Parts: sequence; structure tokens; C-alpha cells
Amino acid sequence: MSMSVPVVGNFRQVPEVAQAGCRITERPENDLTDYAQLLDVIDVGICAVDRTLCIRSWNAFMAAHSGYGSREVIGRPLFELFPELPQDWLKERFDRVFDLGVPSFTSWEQRRYLFSFPHNCPINGGVESMQQDTRLLPIKDELGRVVQVLVCLFDVTDAVLLHHRLAETIQVLEEERQEQQQLIARLAETQEQLIQSEKLAAIGQLAAGVAHEINNPVGFVMSNFRSLEHYVEGAFTLIELFDRHIDVLPAEARAQVARLKQDMDYEFVANDVRALVAESRDGLERVKRIVSDLRDFSRVGETDWQWANVHACLDSTLNVVMNEIKYKAKVVKAYGDLPEIECMPFQLNQVFLNLLVNAAQSIRERGTITLRTRTEDDHVCIEIEDTGAGMTPEVMKRIFDPFYTTKPVGKGTGLGLSVTQSIIGRHQGSISVASTPGLGTTFTLQLPQRHTTAM
Ligand SMILES: Nc1ncnc2c1ncn2[C@@H]1O[C@H](COP(=O)(O)OP(=O)(O)OP(=O)(O)O)[C@@H](O)[C@H]1O
Ligand SMILES: [Mg+2]
Repeated sequence: MSMSVPVVGNFRQVPEVAQAGCRITERPENDLTDYAQLLDVIDVGICAVDRTLCIRSWNAFMAAHSGYGSREVIGRPLFELFPELPQDWLKERFDRVFDLGVPSFTSWEQRRYLFSFPHNCPINGGVESMQQDTRLLPIKDELGRVVQVLVCLFDVTDAVLLHHRLAETIQVLEEERQEQQQLIARLAETQEQLIQSEKLAAIGQLAAGVAHEINNPVGFVMSNFRSLEHYVEGAFTLIELFDRHIDVLPAEARAQVARLKQDMDYEFVANDVRALVAESRDGLERVKRIVSDLRDFSRVGETDWQWANVHACLDSTLNVVMNEIKYKAKVVKAYGDLPEIECMPFQLNQVFLNLLVNAAQSIRERGTITLRTRTEDDHVCIEIEDTGAGMTPEVMKRIFDPFYTTKPVGKGTGLGLSVTQSIIGRHQGSISVASTPGLGTTFTLQLPQRHTTAM
């Protein structure tokens, strides 16, 4: 029987190759190549099976890797010799090639190998069996009927090993890329934080400038006001004396005075002037206190270690934020006996400010903020407790992360607690939080009384 596979050129039939199952027609006159020998030389496994799936040809590659010479296999059923072959799957493939007459291809990625051949240069890469790409080609007779199927087995183990190594390298590169991205994100965060702290410093300076400018006029208004108070009291004393001796005046003059007093509602004015003076004096005192707290505050950048009274820090911070708090919460002070501590007071002010503003913001309508202080061994403890909305455990896990905020855009930057934590860290203290959703939150600060190492 003569057979055919697509071959380019003018070939003459060569019987031994025909037997080996290749399509053989004719060979050019001057071409002396022995095709059967060629099949044994190439580095591809060649095996042909007929309709009964008995082996019809078997090249040296197959013999070398299977351990069966061609004499032992020719004419014998493929699946009997190689029970490890995926019979159902392969039969279906053979049937398709026999029936349709078109080639079929399987890569190692779909099925790592058909024939279980050991890889003859086993390398560390963890591949023990030869990895194979397989091609099934129809061998047709002169009438175009598929009489055999040629199985071409390509050893792709080295390529697979390379592929694995490449995949590992890509994996390492991907991990590095992710690390780099995290680094870039962290850099961006740090940069934003720097910008924020620069902004805070700039605002601080501005506040200091404004506070200074206000301080002077407030100073002389206060001093003038004291004189004014004195003059007003003098004027009233004079009027009272005059009233006591009014009878000595002629009747017409007394009537004029009475008219004038009536027109200007003298009784009311006399009482109101004193009230106005007292209120204004109170207001001026408050302006003076706020200006002085603001000046303290604008020194948040100062990092001098000083002995300071924590209660004084808490009180001056309360003054600054009272406006934010007073409509929301009653402030209860439960101060214990505290010694002075060595700290950076202006930075502690910033801590108290963040905690107090957070507490006030957590209260929806009205609530209470309680400030408790006590001494524990060589530490002082400061508790800031609110009756606000509280936090879920998920929120609590993230509150110290820079830029983490649950507040609407424009309301919170999410930096308050991360700045707080770093200031407490600089003081070698600790900050802890306990919270119950719906009930409220307590932040507890512990600060050593004495600063030990320079940070
Ligand atoms: N007392 C509190 N009660 C309930 N939630 C709080 C309290 N304090 C902080 N949080 C939660 O922690 C988050 C982070 O607080 P943080 O002070 O760092 O940022 P912020 O208040 O959102 O913004 P910023 O302080 O920068 O204006 C808040 O958005 C809030 O969800
Ligand atoms: Mg805050």
C-alpha cells in the first residue's frame, strides 16, 4: 500500500520509508537521502498507528525513551504496550484524525505528557517526566483515505523548565513591583503629611502674628477700660450727690432735670451702664485669654522640654476649642492631684485639641465630655471620655492610620490621631482607646513624669 503526507517536491517511492509510515511518493533522481534513517536521526518521537491502533512505525527516539525497540512494538496494540496513556482521550483524538483527515495538536500546557518518559537530563527544576507537545498527523493513501495516524512527540522539557523559571522570575518581579508601589504610596503619604504639617506650621505662624497684633490693642483697650470704669463710677457718685441736694435748685431747674432724666430713661441707663461695663470687661478678659492661648498654640512647632502642669495645658486647650464644644457637650472635669511633668507642652496642647475636637464631633446632639486625671506610679494618666457615637472594631483598627477618616470630605483630614500618636510616642507615653458603638469612647493617655532620652 502506498501512502501520502504533504510533501513538497518531486519524490519517488521509497519502500522502507513507506513501511515506516511516512507519506512517500517519489524522490528526486539525484537525492540519495535515506528517509528511514532520517526519521531515526531527528530529535522527535515518531510513531504511527493503524485503524486498529496497532503500532506501524517506531523511530529511534521512541525506542531510546521507551526502552522498546521497533521489533518489539511493531504490530502490537499501542494501549497494551503503554497502559499509562490516556486511552479515552487519545482514542477520541485518533478517531477524529482518522475520520476528518485533519491534524490535531496538544501542547504540554493542556496535558504535560502522553508517554511517560523520564527526562533524560533531569534538572533541579522539579520536572521528572519528559514534557511533550504532540501532533497527530493523518497518513493518507492515494485515494485520500486516512490509513494511519502519525504521532509526533516533541520533547519540550527544557522549554518548560525555562517557562517555569521565567514564571518564577515574573512572580519575583511582580512582588517587587508591588513592594515598589507600596513604597511609592507610602512616600506620597509622607509627602502629604509633610505638606500638612507645613500647612499647620504656616497657619500657626499666621495665628501667632494675628494674636500678637490683637494683643497690643487689647492691652490698651483693657487699660483704657479700667480708667473708663473708674470715671463712670465717679460720674455716678457725682450724680447721686447732686440728686441728694437737688432741692436747693429753683423749681424751674428741678423741672428741667426731671424732664431730661425722663427723656433719657435715666433709671434704666444708670443700671444698664453698670451692667454694660461689667459685661464688656468680661468680654475683654475673654479676648485676652483667647489671644494668649492662641499664641501658646501657635508654638506647636516648639520642641523644648519643659516642666509643665497638665491641667493648665488641658484648660488652655479647652478655652481654644470651647466654641466647638459648648453647643454639643457639657465638660466635666474630674482632675486628680498631678505633679508637673517634663514634656513639650505646646505639643501636648495639640494632642488635647485633637482628642477634644474628636470627642465633640462624635456627639450628635448633646452629650458629656469628661476629663479625668490621676497619677499611676511614675506616670500621669489623662482620660478623655465622651458620650458620642462610639466606633466599631473595624474603625478602631484604623484610627491611627494617617488620612483615615470617617468624616465627610472637607470635614476631617484623618491626621488628628496619627499626629497625636506620634507626639505621645515622642513623649515615650502610650495612648489607648476603648469604645462602644452608640455609647461613647474613652481615650487614655499615659505620660511619664520625667523625660529620659532625647528623641
Ligand atoms: N472620640 C471619637 N469617637 C468616635 N470616633 C472617633 C473618635 N475619635 C476618632 N474617631 C474616629 O477616628 C477617625 C480618625 O480620627 P482623626 O482625628 O485621626 O481624623 P479626623 O477627626 O477624621 O480628621 P482630622 O482630625 O484630621 O480633622 C475619625 O474619622 C473617627 O471615625
Ligand atoms: Mg480628628
